[in-house]
Amino acid sequence: MIVTSPDSTLTIGVELRDGRPHYHVEADGESLVAPSPLGFELNNGPPLRDGFEVVETTQRTVEASWTPVWGTQDTVRNHFAERTIRLREANGPERRLTLVLRAYDDGVAFRYRWPEQPNLDTLRIASEDTQFRLTADHTAWWIPDDHDNYEWVYRETPLSAIRDSAAAISYNSYLEEADGGAPDTSEKEAAPGTVNPPLTLRSPDESRYLALHEAALTDYSSMTLRADSETATTLHTTLVPWPDGVKVKASVPHQTPWRVIQVADRPGALVESHLLQNLNEPSKIEDPSWIEPMTYVGIWWGMHIDKYSWGRKGTHGATTERTKRYMDFAAEHDIDGVLVEGWNTGWETWLGGDEFDFTESYPDFDLQEIVDYGEEKGVALIGHHETGGDVPAYEQQMDEAFALYDSVGVPAIKTGYAGPIRPEGVHHHGQQMVNHYRRVVKTAAEHEIVLDVHEPVMGTGIERTWPNMMTREGVRGMEYNAWAEPNPPSHTVTLPFTRMLAGPLDYTPGVFNLTPEETMPDHRVLTTLSKQLANMVVLYSPLQMAADLVENYEGHDAVEFIERVPADWAESHVLQARIGEYTTIARRKKNSNEWYVGTTTNAEARTLNVPLGFLDAGQAYVAHVFEDTPDTDYEDTPHAYRVRRGLVTHEDVIEANLARGGGQAVILEPATEQDRQRHEGLE
Ligand code: NOJ
Ligand code: CA
Repeated sequence: MIVTSPDSTLTIGVELRDGRPHYHVEADGESLVAPSPLGFELNNGPPLRDGFEVVETTQRTVEASWTPVWGTQDTVRNHFAERTIRLREANGPERRLTLVLRAYDDGVAFRYRWPEQPNLDTLRIASEDTQFRLTADHTAWWIPDDHDNYEWVYRETPLSAIRDSAAAISYNSYLEEADGGAPDTSEKEAAPGTVNPPLTLRSPDESRYLALHEAALTDYSSMTLRADSETATTLHTTLVPWPDGVKVKASVPHQTPWRVIQVADRPGALVESHLLQNLNEPSKIEDPSWIEPMTYVGIWWGMHIDKYSWGRKGTHGATTERTKRYMDFAAEHDIDGVLVEGWNTGWETWLGGDEFDFTESYPDFDLQEIVDYGEEKGVALIGHHETGGDVPAYEQQMDEAFALYDSVGVPAIKTGYAGPIRPEGVHHHGQQMVNHYRRVVKTAAEHEIVLDVHEPVMGTGIERTWPNMMTREGVRGMEYNAWAEPNPPSHTVTLPFTRMLAGPLDYTPGVFNLTPEETMPDHRVLTTLSKQLANMVVLYSPLQMAADLVENYEGHDAVEFIERVPADWAESHVLQARIGEYTTIARRKKNSNEWYVGTTTNAEARTLNVPLGFLDAGQAYVAHVFEDTPDTDYEDTPHAYRVRRGLVTHEDVIEANLARGGGQAVILEPATEQDRQRHEGLE
């Protein structure tokens, strides 16, 4: 019982071995996943995994395409072959389980379904016993599973070394500095030998790249992976538990998310794939005209570098006056929104009881006046709900909180869950929170509000179904550079191939003052300025922040790039990449012939060629190249940059001379007659 991808390269099949279903995956006839067991242990009945017989199998092929409301590509092809296998226990209660397999050209996926049936109406899943018996000791890029936090630096190790990896501690030191000086409660130990997907793999001969993840995570708990104690290249599925230890609670009929294995012959193809979205249902939002990608600045970095405070102790950041100033800046520089954190009361209690009120502003923040001011200038206010993890309190206030923002005219909200989820024992990534996050998305949609979720559950492509779920954190982002061990230079050349396979990323790049005096010498950003610009292209987000204080942008020539870079794209191509070392990503602006190209490197200086073959032939373009100088270095001279401009065509190659920790950001715009007279070829 197999199914083969439309291009005949990938197959996924299922067979019963002594009544137990096993699946296997091949690429070009070579085994990628050896026959691996499937099934469940239940808290409310015998295991659901053995003694099956096949009742029926059906097959179909779908060839379609769809138009995302926003994205990296303006149309997405969805072409797959699918086989549905209906199983029934041969003896006993004759419970049923259906397996659905799909083969695409860029990966395979499978999910379990429980059809309506007489002898199974409730599911209490004790464990999902899906295994991944990988056939080689690949190179792996991974973070550990800690159930609550994805804010880790990715490690690169042999797959087999995950098993012996020691427990790791995650530590959010800014919590200590939160207004109110609450003790740090966030120290956590991740279990040894575990991984939080997406897990990215490269085969020993480097001919294949794989990524393991899940799609369409709905009313289920997040999948994490645990290395087998004997065969270190075998991974077991583990599910994030409820406080009582049960993994999933549901009634039948029900289904699991898709278990997904992306397959590619280069790392860039993993990034270009839309497999996760294709495995999700079409949009449930009939008229998405209110959903708009945005670039934004915010009263945000100031709090992280300790210049401002969220609450009233210290210099309050979120004042009417300061917000207007940020809006003035945004209006002058073609930036669509201003995020304001610390506008609502309760920050003094953050992590010490969390008594946030989501409808009451601090007295020095006039919500309606600010929104009206922005409206006149064409700048949106991006709202903020920090729950501190107190989900019961947030759920109580949620309807009113969204109604308030809706009534004053706030089109986007950043939410946050920085702190332990209440009630105690509930995990950020468990089923209860998966359902909570979805409730928030639906509530937001009812109010025509888009979301940027911090401390989220990992993306699984649901933005296809709920395009107002625009971006999320779920990453060790820029903020760490302000108050913790800074992110290493390799970090943002790893993220496109790991965390970002799960979807858009609110990393918040674009910091110009890389050595803020408030945080020096202990904390700073370990990149060059040009890499910050390039990251606005490389680290895709439909809500893309330029994170620095506006005073650090004012009067700075490089702000031209931030002004121009869009947050929505017609096409995207990874031109070159070595995971964790370097990458070049080229994107064409939506409804335009203008291209943006970001090239970045890790701590090594290097020269890369960026061939412009993606440009229209027969058309001259002006290239605006923002780049490191021969003297730039992320450690000593991160701010040195230069701008080169000149005419290019699709036959040209731009040289990227990248400093250590450096980058190059390029705008390519079709040349006018005047441009052709004004510019020479690019030097
Ligand atoms: C953590 C978020 O990641 C950060 O962006 C935010 O500023 C703080 N929580 C406060 O909400
Ligand atoms: Ca965070």
